Amino acid sequence: MAPPLVCVSDYEKEARRLLPLNAFGYYQSGALDEVTLKENKDAMNRWYIRPRLLRDMSQRSTSTTILGHKVSGPIGIAPTAMQRMASTDGECANARAAARFGTVFTMSTLSTSSIEEVAERAPSSLRFFQVYIYKDREVTAKLVQRAEAAGFSALVLTVDTPSLGIRREDERTKFTLPSHLKIANFLTNDMSSRMNTSAGGSGANEYVKSLFDPTLNWGDVDWLKRLTKLPIVLKGILTAEDALLGLEAGAAAIWVSNHGARQVDGVPPTIEALPEIVKAVDGRCEVYVDGGFSSGTHIFTALALGAQMVFLGRPLLWGLTCEGEEGAYNILNILQQELGSTMALSGCATVKDITRDMVIRKEFYSRL
Ligand SMILES: Cc1cc2nc3c(=O)[nH]c(=O)nc-3n(C[C@H](O)[C@H](O)[C@H](O)COP(=O)(O)O)c2cc1C
Repeated sequence: MAPPLVCVSDYEKEARRLLPLNAFGYYQSGALDEVTLKENKDAMNRWYIRPRLLRDMSQRSTSTTILGHKVSGPIGIAPTAMQRMASTDGECANARAAARFGTVFTMSTLSTSSIEEVAERAPSSLRFFQVYIYKDREVTAKLVQRAEAAGFSALVLTVDTPSLGIRREDERTKFTLPSHLKIANFLTNDMSSRMNTSAGGSGANEYVKSLFDPTLNWGDVDWLKRLTKLPIVLKGILTAEDALLGLEAGAAAIWVSNHGARQVDGVPPTIEALPEIVKAVDGRCEVYVDGGFSSGTHIFTALALGAQMVFLGRPLLWGLTCEGEEGAYNILNILQQELGSTMALSGCATVKDITRDMVIRKEFYSRL
């Protein structure tokens, strides 16, 4: 019998074995030379934890809040497109796993399940809706209205995608969405099936080029705010300057992200970008982070550096691929167990106890 899958990398290895080449390539790859993709992971190991000892650890909790909603841990699900390539129930299974676990599921605009379907199949889940702005603004406006009507609690505006990063693996495989799947949020055949074809390169790239609005600018945050009463989270911020502009624009939270290293290659890993943004924001709104997180120690480090929540993209896709809803749930659970263990062994009974002085850059030790 095959050994059980006990960590994120076990799930990734198994998913690589199970998925068709084009789906695995689409999920796994980063932009250009994938320098940032590698750095997102490597940078985590440049931080060491400074554990504090002999503190009563008998009563412990990982629970926290996000935009006023209680969650069982500081671990949320990032929006990733086209999850039905991983499992038959795709986004619905992922949202159900989030609900069972007690955390937030962020649904991509480019989902293979519709807004209403996810709301119906995972009614008790805390759901955020990720927004892309289409050249035809009516398309986005309608999606926002539907997300509000379906009980989503926040909008996550992705600000780093005026066009799609060049992902060589998708060019090699001429990636398209398999024909039995559709971009489910769109009712017209043209919009729902455009990802199923390509003119010879990456179908995802061609989709974004033809439909997304490349004029997107800070004024559009205001446009979105006027459309909705929901709080707006800005996802894809990597600098203090843009975090401050985001605050000015009225963001309820800043989500530090390099889109899983799929947009600009050569940008910093998010664990390194996080501190300057936390400093600039200075407690005026919540700060989240994603990119390369695959263990509880990574999550602990981000919390110490000032993140309120850590989001994960690919690990949930690996969970869905291997075991459907159960696999997504297991991924969340594994990370929570690892975070809980790291907290207990480092003297932190609650997430509030994870303070800035508990992590330090590796170089510090060589300078002593
Ligand atoms: C396959 C895939 C699809 C993605 N699709 C979207 C998307 O539709 N919208 C979005 O804002 N971000 C998207 N992202 C970025 C994720 O939200 C997130 O920033 C990233 O995956 C975090 O890095 P991680 O995968 O290392 O956890 C996608 C990422 C991946 C890997």
